[in-house]
Amino acid sequence: MSARSIAILSGKGGVGKTTTTINLGVALTQLGKNVVVVDVNLVTPNVSLQLGLPPTPANLNSVLKGKASIRDAICTHESGIRVIPAGLSILESSEPLLVEYSDVLAPLSEFHDIILLDCGAGLWGNIAKAVRAADEVIVVTNPELPALIDALKSIQMVEKLRVPLRGVVLNRSNGSNYDASTEVIGGILNGYKILGNIPYDKSVLKSAAVRKPVVYYKPYSKAAQAYRKLAADIAGIEYRKSFLELIFGAF
Ligand SMILES: Nc1ncnc2c1ncn2[C@@H]1O[C@H](COP(=O)(O)OP(=O)(O)O)[C@@H](O)[C@H]1O
Ligand SMILES: [Mg+2]
Repeated sequence: MSARSIAILSGKGGVGKTTTTINLGVALTQLGKNVVVVDVNLVTPNVSLQLGLPPTPANLNSVLKGKASIRDAICTHESGIRVIPAGLSILESSEPLLVEYSDVLAPLSEFHDIILLDCGAGLWGNIAKAVRAADEVIVVTNPELPALIDALKSIQMVEKLRVPLRGVVLNRSNGSNYDASTEVIGGILNGYKILGNIPYDKSVLKSAAVRKPVVYYKPYSKAAQAYRKLAADIAGIEYRKSFLELIFGAF
């Protein structure tokens, strides 16, 4: 098996990359895909924190330094996604990295359908290295000017690296007049496809408080439905609302 690897990035921090990565991962798992999420945010990692995962004998930092095997860094979440966490200590992010991302991803590729790379905020450096190892990229942003401008910088970096950009996810949309208009968003983002529109939803915060993905903990919430729709698009499967979704989604 050879997995498809997708890097999830944003210029600005706090826009919802990790939330999008783990929920996309769970939704793709529910569609029958074997998914592994790799926390390539080596400086301020938070995938394992957001999922409440126990410590593993190794992590991505030790694997990239050639000190451990990727097998010792894999952890499985109760929702079914597998996770490669990054090291939580600041000391672990400082030493030089000796192993290429492509070499880290190769063994994972054999046993998974999809590899999701949760990148840190910002541009170049480690993020560019991870993007180069990916087959395609999704940029996450909020429908607000500062986030959109930083998203454009991420888009320009991806274009320079010549990695296919699948499109943009608009997260925490309010659907209000305070969000940038569709025309403004399209103009700033060079007309790249909007793959998903995830509403601002308190269910995301409620789920984060108990360290669970919203798709898993509050499956009938508006955000969970939007993440499932996004996952269907990524998997190339037609999205159909279930009976329960039709009932609960009305509230
Ligand atoms: N659609 C949403 N609705 C409400 N809160 C959200 C939504 N998406 C993300 N959040 C919250 O926003 C904060 C930042 O999200 P996070 O995924 O950690 O961002 P990033 O990884 O880009 O730094 C978290 O507290 C998260 O729970
Ligand atoms: Mg994050």
